Amino acid sequence: MSADTVAGGMPETSRSHMAVATEEGTSCILETRGVRKSFGGVVAVEDVSITVPAGHIVGLIGPNGAGKSTLLSILAGAQVPDAGSIWFLGEEISRQNPVKRARKGLTRTFQLSGDLPRLTVLENLLLAAPDQSGEHLWAALVGKRLWKRQEEALVIRARALLNRFDMRKHEDAYVNELSGGQRRLVEIMRSLMANPRLLLLDEPFAGVNPSLSRRIESHLIDLRADGLTMVLVEHELGVVERCCDPVVVMAMGHVIAEGTMGDVRTRGEVLDAYLAG
Ligand SMILES: Nc1ncnc2c1ncn2[C@@H]1O[C@H](COP(=O)(O)OP(=O)(O)OP(=O)(O)O)[C@@H](O)[C@H]1O
Ligand SMILES: [Mg+2]
Repeated sequence: MSADTVAGGMPETSRSHMAVATEEGTSCILETRGVRKSFGGVVAVEDVSITVPAGHIVGLIGPNGAGKSTLLSILAGAQVPDAGSIWFLGEEISRQNPVKRARKGLTRTFQLSGDLPRLTVLENLLLAAPDQSGEHLWAALVGKRLWKRQEEALVIRARALLNRFDMRKHEDAYVNELSGGQRRLVEIMRSLMANPRLLLLDEPFAGVNPSLSRRIESHLIDLRADGLTMVLVEHELGVVERCCDPVVVMAMGHVIAEGTMGDVRTRGEVLDAYLAG
């Protein structure tokens, strides 16, 4: 992504991302303190205290069942922790629902599911815009396709994203006609329609071929260059090594190591957890 494309394609988004690191002068955009979550007898997340520095991609890794997705759901507000607190941009958000968190700039990607594949790529993006997911837009989309007149500003934003992700030519395609990797791109673009400051990504490379994986990876690095902060759950450690710093390692609900990928990959407790997992 060239600087020109960023500046010309998405000026508003870029500026708002930059604001996190500069105007607010905060080095830590999100913090958890002693977060715990159990499901019946299974403790999925136990005493997790992490900090997410602004302008970084924090890697969240660990063996299957370590608690990574549960922690991400808790950060997004989709799961309520049994204990502990979550702080975003200096404010406690532990009791806020996902919509409120998203309005503040904390959002996560969602897998495309249900009836969304029966909408076009562009319609999927429009539906993801904040405060546009109500019945009005839904009716407009599914019914008379009134968005062409009513939602012009949103269409401009969506097309800027489509250009940025080289998906403009697919804007009228139905999502169920896309490849797995293109669907992942739509999921990321949908979350960017909310103009987030912190984006939570759970395995965005799953089911994606290597060349598109590299493309998604470079998009994430470009977004970070614009100042967007991310937490990335990923099993492919090569990707984590290239994109993420710091890396948080979880096993059996606990954070067992933090540091650069180079640091944590040689730590005995991390090797043991992966072997056990
Ligand atoms: N809704 C749920 N109900 C019951 N148990 C759950 C639920 N969600 C997660 N768990 C359990 O909590 C533990 C952590 O699961 P989680 O999905 O967070 O792990 P993960 O690190 O994301 O694993 P993976 O790498 O396989 O995606 C697992 O033992 C899982 O079975
Ligand atoms: Mg998971």
